[in-house]
Amino acid sequence: MPSQRQDGSAYHLPNPQYEAGLTRVERGTPMGELLRRYWHPVGLASDATSRPRPVRILGEDLILFRDGGGRAGLLYPRCCHRGTTLYYGKVEERGIRCCYHGWLFDAEGHCLDMPVEPGNGASFKHKVRQPWYPVEERYGLIFAYLGPPEHKPLLPRFQVLEELDDGEFVEADDQGIGTGGGPVAPCNWLQHFENVMDPLHVPVLHDGFSGTQFVGAMGIVPDVRFETFALGVRSYQVRKLDNGGTLNRISETVLPTVRVVASPRLTPGRCESIGWTLPIDSETYTVYTAARVREAGVLGRIRSRFGGRLWSELTEREHQDMPGDWEAQVGQGRITFHSEEHLGASDRGVIMLRKMLRTEAAKVAAGGHPAGAAFTAGSEWIESSAGNWFASAQ
Ligand code: FES
Ligand SMILES: [Fe+2]
Repeated sequence: MPSQRQDGSAYHLPNPQYEAGLTRVERGTPMGELLRRYWHPVGLASDATSRPRPVRILGEDLILFRDGGGRAGLLYPRCCHRGTTLYYGKVEERGIRCCYHGWLFDAEGHCLDMPVEPGNGASFKHKVRQPWYPVEERYGLIFAYLGPPEHKPLLPRFQVLEELDDGEFVEADDQGIGTGGGPVAPCNWLQHFENVMDPLHVPVLHDGFSGTQFVGAMGIVPDVRFETFALGVRSYQVRKLDNGGTLNRISETVLPTVRVVASPRLTPGRCESIGWTLPIDSETYTVYTAARVREAGVLGRIRSRFGGRLWSELTEREHQDMPGDWEAQVGQGRITFHSEEHLGASDRGVIMLRKMLRTEAAKVAAGGHPAGAAFTAGSEWIESSAGNWFASAQ
């Protein structure tokens, strides 16, 4: 924290800085390497088709496709022959064929055909490999692992999405539920993720300041307690309700980017959805969501509305008059300046989450496995106590 001169003049502000080790996601950075030890969603299952689809994740541009046999593939876009992009390739039964000289690559980058090399490349094709990443599908999403192959963990299973009540099924959404605005937010992923451990912004931003954006009870200032657990940080929020009852709301952050947050409209009971904060790069993120639902299309309809309109339909004055999460988080800048912060008691959850991320990044840098990386069957199960728990007056 910079020392502040008595007069407080902006003239004396030092050059602002952000904590790169906590925020930047490129390969070789501390956080980039921590993030690369986990699986991340790269698309809906329906995004992998016979049409090559460009995707960007952790600052890397890749091509997603699904071969004729139904297998999804995620390849580095520049063809390993002479570098044109596989975006213009054609997907076939066994893989994707580059448009330029027709080299054919399967979902793991093996070259299967070189039509204009002698003998269709019989003696050459085994010597090249298109760079690739493994993918797995679950919950209607495609997950990718961009880390060192020898450290690839099992794809997690979330209790929230595995234990279904009667009539429920799991549905996925890619429209950035929880960003407060559009699907792709122009700021650092951590500004969104650490907001999950900031329950005291709720009665201010989402109620007092902007009018009631969720439901009235969320405007009550809660008593909050935070705790670190094996996989992340959890908050316990207790609200004394007007009817004499109590609302115990529990929210969780699971490393490295997972939100386990029950409905802010206070549907009673256990949390119904998981949100993955996906860093597209260091200055842009999106959110993928999967939820237990009873009706198809429900997720698409719960998008935030302000006086009946979508965030994108609001005027600039309305954004100023009733800001929400998008305005507050994008308003912190592309990557917030940590050097200018003054953290208080209400920021304890944010401090704990940042500390845990730093610790786990250091563990990876020292050659260890990070929290929650599971390698034996059964250990990839992630329990949750998140939910809205109501107790009536005694
Ligand atoms: S550049 Fe792809 S086959 Fe030649
Ligand atoms: Fe919020």
